Amino acid sequence: MVKIVRVDPLNPRDEDIAEAAAVIRSGGLVAFPTETVYGLGADAFNAEASARIFKAKGRPADNPLIVHVSSLDMALELGDMPEKAVEVAKKAWPGPITFVVKKKADLPAVVTAGRPTVALRCPAHPVALKLIEAAGTPIAAPSANKAGRPSPTEASHVAEDLGDSVDLILDAGRTFFGVESTIVDVTREPPVLLRPGPFTVEELKSLLGEVEIPPFARGLGEADVALAPGMKYRHYAPETPLILVDFDLASAVRAARELGLRVAVLCLAGRCADADAAINVGSDLYEIAKNLYDALRRVDKVKVDVALAPTVPERGIGLAIMNRLRKASGFKFAATEEELRRLLRV
Ligand code: TXA
Ligand code: MG
Repeated sequence: MVKIVRVDPLNPRDEDIAEAAAVIRSGGLVAFPTETVYGLGADAFNAEASARIFKAKGRPADNPLIVHVSSLDMALELGDMPEKAVEVAKKAWPGPITFVVKKKADLPAVVTAGRPTVALRCPAHPVALKLIEAAGTPIAAPSANKAGRPSPTEASHVAEDLGDSVDLILDAGRTFFGVESTIVDVTREPPVLLRPGPFTVEELKSLLGEVEIPPFARGLGEADVALAPGMKYRHYAPETPLILVDFDLASAVRAARELGLRVAVLCLAGRCADADAAINVGSDLYEIAKNLYDALRRVDKVKVDVALAPTVPERGIGLAIMNRLRKASGFKFAATEEELRRLLRV
């Protein structure tokens, strides 16, 4: 059984942080909370330990990891951060934004998947920050889920997916935002949004000026692999087919049930349709983001034939929610009842 240590998210005990830091320093894997999702961490300068992350997750070797730092100074040792990015980092870090920059230090190739760039992020979670400080080394960490599965927003999700392949889980309860950090590639001019997250595009533009938002960053279609190596893979998906519904959810549920299917819906407050299973995700966008991955995990537990999810406005954190929903559905999107029926028949 994997060791799970319960910690207070704001005031973790020094001895618990020291224990986890010792695991990192000795080449082990620690799952730890961030303000977005749980990460699966290893010493970023230890190639063998970092390779274990890929093995534990079943992650393809060409998909690089984010390197977590506890300060801007630590980031500046690892990457060539353009002046613009430094200015944004000064305002936004610690926080849910990751910068892709030219890599500087000799980080192992396994961490950056052999790329000349590195993704850097300083997480706004006391447990994460204290862990990096105590370990005295940057921590390479992807989300702590099996490749393709929804990211973990609770320690139990990590244990469910990775179990004994992790040495220690620091359990600080539910993570705050529930969707992964915003990623922006600042090696390009204008900078390119690779993944929307809790740090909103609106905020990013106010700090960076122009930002390119390619269609894949909205979850529309396949990504340019040269730019975004991880985005080509299946993501966040439940085993049960999921369809995004952009018309009245109650009619969509009725149409699916008429075809003899058992249906689950992800419902927004006040819009719970008469389905076989109703999974409440909340009412405002932040609540929906926070509950989204747990809801996607629940979809498989209620044993239905199909799950339907409503769309949300693509503003603020809503852009991140729609990106995740589009990917989780494998781009299955119905704007009308006819389209839904067509998707349900195949
Ligand atoms: O909120 C988060 O970012 C969480 C927590 C744990 O910090 N981490 C996370 O990591 O979501 P992961 O590995 O699940 O997603 C990182 C994404 C991947 O899609 C990867 O391809 C991309 O970042 N990435 C990493 N390094 C990159 C690079 N050098 N160039 C382009 N994309 C990169
Ligand atoms: Mg991930």
